[in-house]
Amino acid sequence: MIDFLGDWKRSDYCGNLRKEDTGREVTLLGWVQKRRDLGGLIFVETRDRQGIVQVVFNPEANPKVHEKAQTLRSEYVIGVRGEVVLRPEGTANPKLGTGEIEVAAKELKILNVSKNPPFLIEDEEDVAENTRLKYRYLDLRKPGLQKNLILRHRLAREVREYFDRLGFLEVETPMLTKSTPEGARDFLVPSRLSPGHFYALPQSPQLFKQILMVAGYDRYFQIVRCFRDEDLRSDRQPEFTQIDVEMSFVTVEDIQRTMEGLMVHLFKEVLGMELKTPFPALSYDEAMDRYGLDKPDIRFGLELKDLSQPFKNSTFKVFKEALDGGGIIKAINVKGGATFSRKEIDDLTHFVYDYGAKGLISAKVSQDNWQSPMQKFITDEERRSVEKAMGASEGDLLLLIAGPAKVVNQSLANLRLHLGRKLGLIPEEEYRFVWVLDFPLLEYDEAEKRYMAVHHPFTGPRDEDISKLKEHSEQVKAKAYDLVLNGSEIGGGSIRNHLKEVQSLVFEKLGMDEEEARERFGFLLEALEYGTPPHGGIAFGFDRLVMILSHSESIRDVIAFPKTQKGTCLMTDAPSKVDGKQLDELWIKLKV
Ligand code: AMO
Repeated sequence: MIDFLGDWKRSDYCGNLRKEDTGREVTLLGWVQKRRDLGGLIFVETRDRQGIVQVVFNPEANPKVHEKAQTLRSEYVIGVRGEVVLRPEGTANPKLGTGEIEVAAKELKILNVSKNPPFLIEDEEDVAENTRLKYRYLDLRKPGLQKNLILRHRLAREVREYFDRLGFLEVETPMLTKSTPEGARDFLVPSRLSPGHFYALPQSPQLFKQILMVAGYDRYFQIVRCFRDEDLRSDRQPEFTQIDVEMSFVTVEDIQRTMEGLMVHLFKEVLGMELKTPFPALSYDEAMDRYGLDKPDIRFGLELKDLSQPFKNSTFKVFKEALDGGGIIKAINVKGGATFSRKEIDDLTHFVYDYGAKGLISAKVSQDNWQSPMQKFITDEERRSVEKAMGASEGDLLLLIAGPAKVVNQSLANLRLHLGRKLGLIPEEEYRFVWVLDFPLLEYDEAEKRYMAVHHPFTGPRDEDISKLKEHSEQVKAKAYDLVLNGSEIGGGSIRNHLKEVQSLVFEKLGMDEEEARERFGFLLEALEYGTPPHGGIAFGFDRLVMILSHSESIRDVIAFPKTQKGTCLMTDAPSKVDGKQLDELWIKLKV
């Protein structure tokens, strides 16, 4: 029953055939999407990577071939030879690229059979993600995923083209290496040859790319896999891909312009879109002030306003307590939001609880009054100055939160995004880039009782702030930058510490004594003593970029073989147990 492929070669991809191909003899190799038996004629939708075309088997033309076509089932692998013909008048299918034609079959080969698949190979099918991931080979046959992976391939190719043109070299860096801190837990690999010792899979090639600058390679890039053992989200995977870049003798602006050029190139070549440069930039402080977070979605307004000043003498307990405790009061203005029901406002209040807010105070603005739980505590003067600050007018809804700055910003930032989506304020088709600059170098971690690097420990302070590093670390700004696209951090980097003294001082501020610094990063400190040029770089999250450009909801839809939320691969069943002999060889005894 199974035919051999023999000398059949594909002449065309199914999905590529068009009206202009009418009259051509073609050989197609693909899968049966669907068979419809209409008494006489049999229609077989035949699918390959490029799409679907209808193949017709006519009993009068070829009785034997027609009989064979009756045995076809979904996902059988077939070869078809036939002629491209126009579909009869009135039967064109505008939903298919190939909808104006069909292939009149003359020969059929059944190259393989298939079990009945657990789900239909159609994008519209609503299939549980676990089932999709278990049968990933079937899932990957769907046009949507194929489109994403083809886009991914084209983007990767254009990334290489762009950097090659600018004289960058792609250099591979090791996967079995030493831990580099990027703020996540490492994946460790035990060494058989060095009992009790471990490699770490790289969280990024950070130190190697810096070493390449020390070595004089001047311009490096790499499309590279990184590994981080962290809590997964819809835009995070334990192994993901970066477009990693490092350059010598550059300023922050040089890196910005180079990466903007990359975006312009990718959007033009792959999406056919023109981007305007330079991209706008915000300082970290301004981003926090106006949007409450460091990756603002600037496609819509609803900005946060600080109302601590107008309410500085407020008698309202919630405000007074917040301000006395060193906190702040901030608000957003939902234009026309006075129509919100009590229940809707209650839902928003519950929404902000999740971000640590103690409550959400609403105020519906009318001519000379507010309808608000705090109505009787507000003076006319406060009301007027708040309305002015918020640009509020009759019919608007003000939503206020008071408390510690971190909680207020986090709650309002998320509330802003939530409302932006709920009210349809976000123009989904737009791409809005924004640089976030001048991050703090260090932040104090209350739990750990020590400073942590906001980016990573190799980030350099601004030249004018180096002198503050010793005594006023919290005031030091970094030469660090993130690129944000539609509210998603797609890249981040910095100008590095190329002077050993500054790097050592940063390590010290991070609570690493000299011995620890030597043990962990001795090779870097040593390399810095052999003529290190000023240098800096950046890394883009490649998966995130593909995700945004393909309008995918999940990072798993742009990775061929992704992991689940729990870091497992349902197709291969990784991670899995290993046998005792393997563990013995690695000098490992399990506790579980
Ligand atoms: P950073 O840690 O900011 O910088 O990472 C760069 C970009 O990588 C993406 N990214 C991720 N994507 C998917 N899953 C993850 N788990 C994940 N983690 C990060 C983000 C992020 O902006 N070595 C530095 C770069 C440098 O300083 O040059 C670094 O790795 O889009």
